[in-house]
Amino acid sequence: MKSNIMAALLAVNLSPTFAATNATNSGTTEGVAVEASGSSLEAVKETPAQRDARMAWWHEAKFGLFIHWGIYSVPAGKYGTNTTYGEWIMHSAKIPVEKYHEFAEQFNPVKYDPQLWVKTAKDAGMKYIVITSKHHDGFALYPSAASKWNIADATPYKKDLLGPLVNAAKAEGLKIGFYYSQSQDWNNPGGAKKGFNEGDGWDDAHKGSFDEYLKNVAVPQVKEILTRYPIDILWWDTPIQMTPQRAAPLAALTKLRPGIIMNNRLGGGFRGDTGTPEGYVPVTGYPGDWETCMTLNGHWGYNAYDQNWKSSTDLIRKLADICAKGGNFLLNVGPTSDGEFPPACVERLQAVGKWLRVNGESIYGTQRGPFPYLAWGTATRKGNMLYLHVFDWPQDGKLRVPLGNKVQSAKLLATGENLAVKNLDGKVVIDVPANAPDAAASVIALRFDGEPVTEPLPTAGAKATASASIPGNGPENAIDGTGEKRWRAPLEAKSAWLELELKQATTIGAFGLDEPDTWPRMKQKFKLEAFVDGEWKMLAEAKTSGHGIKQTITPVNAQKFRLTMECDNGSPGVAELQLYLAE
Ligand code: GLC
Repeated sequence: MKSNIMAALLAVNLSPTFAATNATNSGTTEGVAVEASGSSLEAVKETPAQRDARMAWWHEAKFGLFIHWGIYSVPAGKYGTNTTYGEWIMHSAKIPVEKYHEFAEQFNPVKYDPQLWVKTAKDAGMKYIVITSKHHDGFALYPSAASKWNIADATPYKKDLLGPLVNAAKAEGLKIGFYYSQSQDWNNPGGAKKGFNEGDGWDDAHKGSFDEYLKNVAVPQVKEILTRYPIDILWWDTPIQMTPQRAAPLAALTKLRPGIIMNNRLGGGFRGDTGTPEGYVPVTGYPGDWETCMTLNGHWGYNAYDQNWKSSTDLIRKLADICAKGGNFLLNVGPTSDGEFPPACVERLQAVGKWLRVNGESIYGTQRGPFPYLAWGTATRKGNMLYLHVFDWPQDGKLRVPLGNKVQSAKLLATGENLAVKNLDGKVVIDVPANAPDAAASVIALRFDGEPVTEPLPTAGAKATASASIPGNGPENAIDGTGEKRWRAPLEAKSAWLELELKQATTIGAFGLDEPDTWPRMKQKFKLEAFVDGEWKMLAEAKTSGHGIKQTITPVNAQKFRLTMECDNGSPGVAELQLYLAE
């Protein structure tokens, strides 16, 4: 058994040290978001310089379009009286295979215009597209010889949807990637179904052997997409039932497209190239390459009833914040079954594009900024330029930047205006006009000398203790500055605390905490207290969304801080806790 795994690994040039996390049967992507730091298929043969070269376009690109398109766009979110479904509709409503296939008879996207889709992405400032070639419902958007459940054999449209998009993207200089659901497949017999035992399902028609499914459907289909289409990214998902042996043949196939980038959701311990925080911007960022994927409303697949759209201001700020933390942004559109992007999506994409045409140099090709926290916004970096994204424009005409370097110039990108700037008390102070030129984010390009000099985090060098910890998940992990390792209390704990004793009493004005990337989300109740005048004083109390939280507090001077967490669906814990200096 063991030697089989080794043989499989060697066949794909994988480092045998890959096995940080392993396949899970639960479908959770827990942990995957932070474990893609530098490991790749070519781990053995690829030097860091070669890896950088392979990833170069992706580092430059920063902003991409995710497209979730398939048969689920026909019911458009509705089944029976329930209108809350998305691409999971078949699974959530337990629709039998034959019944689900009826939707395919109505999938005839005659308005599909791949050139227009590409133009919309390009005008939005997006540099790459990732489209579902097969989602969990098993439906292939291209003619597949491995399964009749595909666009050519199962719909009136009968033609390939993917080839024309690939060509249109390439013609416009955009990169193109395919999402492929390698484990879950609710139509082809034997495919995994979240929440069901291996081989099982809600309809006899899709029960069967998972290994047969991999051999007869997943492997041949991945081979088809990799040989037919010149794709730049392979985006795996939900590695349910994956093991190193099962994943290895799929990983091996990626050699068919030298230079391809893959995410960290193949499973079987294959870490891939990119982490995939889903639906949130990690509060403290992650080391290595990662990409936040996010919906524009609350669904990936088209839902005609969900009009809960994120505002363009929110999207612009998220893009800036993701880049400031070193990530990419993959923003999703769920097209209709006619083949169109919902107008609300187009509107928002246009607004982001308009902003990027003015401020693009603060996004493309930038690296993580040097500040863990800025009260007024966020900052990206490119060499000796810092791009300050100001969300909250200063009322007193002075923008304070906690940077110790000598600064050469400051320029407002929106107007081209050069701003007066000076060094004062170890900070950079910029004179800004009375009003923000851009309500979403005004960008100031700051040219500085040398490497950025910033204040250390107040939590650096602090002493961390906890009421309880799982071995290997000690409290020190919560302040290691990376968000990579976690402090977690044992499951029985339900409620647990983490205490930080700073090196000295410090005035704290904000805090940030990152939660482990679990599914379902941890949504922890927490309270943060400070030890002041001999007693614990409450600073903040709330429930998270499961994606961590960043918040200002009434400034407090203290040396000891205590975070108490309660979790209903897992053991309490944080990936990182940071305290920030008051302004
Ligand atoms: C999830 C979901 C899915 C969606 C995806 C996007 O894991 O299963 O429907 O495609 O993530 O990140």
